[in-house]
Amino acid sequence: MHTLGKRTLLFSSLLSGFLLVRAQHSTVTCDASSGGWIYNSLGQTPCLIFADMYPSCTEKSIVVPGLNESDPNASYGAPETDLECLCNTVAYDLISACAFCQHKPFLTWSQWTACCEPSTTPLVGK
Ligand SMILES: *[C@@H]1O[C@H](CO)[C@@H](O)[C@H](O)[C@H]1NC(C)=O
Ligand SMILES: *[C@@H]1O[C@H](CO)[C@@H](O)[C@H](O)[C@H]1NC(C)=O
Repeated sequence: MHTLGKRTLLFSSLLSGFLLVRAQHSTVTCDASSGGWIYNSLGQTPCLIFADMYPSCTEKSIVVPGLNESDPNASYGAPETDLECLCNTVAYDLISACAFCQHKPFLTWSQWTACCEPSTTPLVGK
């Protein structure tokens, strides 16, 4: 099971090969005042896009939960292992936008990539 840090639990479950029903992997609602740019052309939140992208390198699915509304410091943690689908700017931008649209802090790029390898080379488009 892969998790994105310890502060917020992301629930991971094996995708069953026969399970064709597409689950909703994030029910986070972005604050509309963040601006329409936060949604894609299908009206999906960055949280949902991130969750949909996640299985591309893990064959596991995750749920991106909403951050605790009563904790101003609630945030999504960094990947704890070097995962190709997470160690890139696209994943970082999506999860950061997901936190931003909930008015929560997000990690710096170097915090996000702390467990990514190799840490000395650019990870963009890896
Ligand atoms: C949400 O944050 C508040 C304030 O920090 C805390 O008391 C509460 O236990 C948190 N709720 C959850 C579900 O973590
Ligand atoms: C949020 O972080 C600030 C700065 O570290 C701290 O002073 C504050 O107590 C934290 N708030 C909560 C609810 O944890």
